Amino acid sequence: MSLPLVVALDGPSGSGKSSTARGVAARLGLAYLDTGAMYRAVTWALLQRGVDTDDAAAVAAAVADVTIESGTDPAEPTIVADGVDVAVEIRSDEVVRHVSPVSTVPQVRTHLVDLQRQVIAAATPGIVVEGRDIGTVVATDAAVKVYLVADPEARASRRAAEEGGSDTAATAASLLRRDRIDSTRATSPLAKADDAVEIDTTFLTLDEVIGQIVALAEEARS
Ligand code: DC
Repeated sequence: MSLPLVVALDGPSGSGKSSTARGVAARLGLAYLDTGAMYRAVTWALLQRGVDTDDAAAVAAAVADVTIESGTDPAEPTIVADGVDVAVEIRSDEVVRHVSPVSTVPQVRTHLVDLQRQVIAAATPGIVVEGRDIGTVVATDAAVKVYLVADPEARASRRAAEEGGSDTAATAASLLRRDRIDSTRATSPLAKADDAVEIDTTFLTLDEVIGQIVALAEEARS
């Protein structure tokens, strides 16, 4: 039996990863995993427990008890934390404010990277995985690695539109703050893998980006 086809899609917030990853998975008949949703779900579960998310030792101690389940249908991805469907809750301002410090804690990353690898290993005929460290840490042998970038203004206006027309300037400030924390943390910082193909999405339509990645995946499969 052939190995699952793994497409690793990394990049900063608002680079178009989620829509792109779901579109590629749907076009290729693959599963889809949103690892950002897993970090958000852990953050939600820790906030529910009253854990101070700036206290790395408290976060490290609490994370082992958190259960996360990810549904991998690209048409209807699901995320469940401690048995609760948290698809809506993980998009709240409160979770957004706390997710970067939580995702810097090594025990959180180890816990989630283990889970992510289990999902990837079980995915037939393959999976599109989006995140920050998929090509560099989680799936270093992925057949296709893509790193999406876009101008900060384009990223902020896309994210503001996704959030129902929220203030673009405030969204830009929040994105840049998260970029800084994500890129400078000691464990698995946001980074382009040496063997990743970089695609700048600033002036491309979603369909164009999906088409480029589908072409890379078909080449890898042949
Ligand atoms: O992609 P997103 O905005 O849903 O990600 C939420 C946060 O999770 C983001 O601030 C960085 C973190 N994250 C991470 O550290 N590693 C990943 N593989 C995915 C997300």
